Amino acid sequence: MIEDVLSHIKIDDKKRLVVDEELNAFLFDVIKNKSRVAHSISVAQLSFDIALSNNLDNPEHYLVAGLLHDLAKGLDTNTLKTYMTRYFKEYLDLPSYTYHQFISVYLTQKYFNIHNENLLDAIKFHCTGKPKMNSIGKIVYSADKADPLRGYDSNKMINLLKIDYNEGFIYTLNENRIFLLNKLYKGESTNNRLSEECFAYYLK
Ligand SMILES: [Fe+2]
Ligand SMILES: [Fe+2]
Repeated sequence: MIEDVLSHIKIDDKKRLVVDEELNAFLFDVIKNKSRVAHSISVAQLSFDIALSNNLDNPEHYLVAGLLHDLAKGLDTNTLKTYMTRYFKEYLDLPSYTYHQFISVYLTQKYFNIHNENLLDAIKFHCTGKPKMNSIGKIVYSADKADPLRGYDSNKMINLLKIDYNEGFIYTLNENRIFLLNKLYKGESTNNRLSEECFAYYLK
């Protein structure tokens, strides 16, 4: 349940998230890496902040989606492939770096029994994007890319997202497309059909 996750998080008077030891230990156990856990909490915070400043309903849903979006990052490619074959066969043709977005949905359901469609859909496409994303999807996708812990200046992205998350999302999407194209020029294959469909849908 969403409430189970939230029962381990305090929100202080400055709207800062304080994750308790039990949830921290659980996240580390599953994600298996300190900086990835820090990234997850940072994306939760940023998603929550963006939802609040846009006056969206249920801002805590954005928080939870942000916190759990990378749950499957601790699994190796073989294990991810096994789960993909079992539960998400229709996406097996995508590059393996995308698999964690699907398996994070599986783990979110398994560990927390969360079945909120919008929240799960946001996790499911946070890495690739897709056409017709819901507001949680747009914000978690953007917060994931704009996470200040990533080490590049994402202030413009964050400011735009806080003023108008739709505009901020389009800006972030465009930045990400440029980033992927640069990688492509260097010979790294980062193309996938979901991102292509997402760019075609939102970037006219
Ligand atoms: Fe991810
Ligand atoms: Fe992430």
